[in-house]
Amino acid sequence: MERFFCSNCKRFYSLEPARWRCDCGSYLDLEFEPKFPIQKFLKRTPTLWRYREAIPIRSDQSILSMNEGFTPLEGIEFHGNLVLIKMDYLFPTGSYKDRGATVLISKMKEWGIQKVVEDSSGNAGSAIAAYCAKGGIACEIYVPHDTSSGKLIQIQAYGAILKKVEGSREKTAEKAMEAASKIPYASHCWNPFFLHGTKTFAFEVWEQMDWRTPDTLVLPIGHGTLFLGVHLGFKELKQAGMIKRIPKLVGIQSVSCAPLYQAFHKGWKETRPIEKKKTIAEGIAIAEPVRGRQILEAIQETGGEVLVVTEEEIKGTLKEMGRKGHFIEPTSAATIAGLKKYLKEKRRKETVVSTFTGMGLKSTGKVL
Ligand SMILES: Cc1ncc(COP(=O)(O)O)c(C=O)c1O
Ligand SMILES: [Zn+2]
Repeated sequence: MERFFCSNCKRFYSLEPARWRCDCGSYLDLEFEPKFPIQKFLKRTPTLWRYREAIPIRSDQSILSMNEGFTPLEGIEFHGNLVLIKMDYLFPTGSYKDRGATVLISKMKEWGIQKVVEDSSGNAGSAIAAYCAKGGIACEIYVPHDTSSGKLIQIQAYGAILKKVEGSREKTAEKAMEAASKIPYASHCWNPFFLHGTKTFAFEVWEQMDWRTPDTLVLPIGHGTLFLGVHLGFKELKQAGMIKRIPKLVGIQSVSCAPLYQAFHKGWKETRPIEKKKTIAEGIAIAEPVRGRQILEAIQETGGEVLVVTEEEIKGTLKEMGRKGHFIEPTSAATIAGLKKYLKEKRRKETVVSTFTGMGLKSTGKVL
């Protein structure tokens, strides 16, 4: 039987849609035992739902899917290093957030929920809105007023109620939390079911590498929902005896908003307030990551690190990727700028995996 649990105060809660955090204020995780029947996986269509026994949805009838996932893992050369890049900008809504949304909104459907609320820098909101549309669930999406117009239009195209908030990403989250006192909170940062979707990134890499693991993954950190999902996925594979070692996780932040970089380099267990500056990498402009402690633990556990990139490096990489045939959004270019930095620093030969997280068409204004 699955339960929510709090790693901060060790409390357990039965699963219910209104429970989005612990009474101590901390985020919750999900107690769940995944299974990995490889022969069954191989017989299924190449979507992230082929890992069905490892995804915590009870009934197949609850699944809201658009055949998402199993994105290509393509070798791209960066200054003489061949890196495997997961093409997560090829999801139905144009970003990897669909991994989390398909699972979280399927759970909402399983719970019989008719309306949800979510806050986002735009992409998670688009993904939640799309899967809600698929499931006939109403939703209110709160976003900062300066979110890329492509994302705002996309959210409304799915029929969601768009709530633009004058103020920061943090102010936007506050507004959504107020609404969450009455409407179930389909939060990609707080709700652990989202991480049980993003973890499929790890399963896909494992399968696409012939059931092996890379040495290192270079991933973005905003709220860390991909970073933590990947950690969870490899942790589950290790616990089930499917792999021997969890790869090193390297996180990338913008120098304009780097709470994890600060905490990692100061040796803190939690993130602390930072002074946030403007950045074109809107998806990682997160000053107060909900799961900061958990991200720092994942970095420690895997021998990873956090690197920061400048606005100039992001812009240069965005242009460079376009010239290679990949029109990604600035937030995704930040990860690749960090990847290049990592490749320059590393001394030994490693198998490195990274990702293009979002489609450039979503933020043409910022790209311009
Ligand atoms: C395109 C893109 N990449 C990366 C991220 C960072 O994701 P996370 O908050 O899961 O760390 C986001 C978040 O919105 C995003 O939209
Ligand atoms: Zn607690």
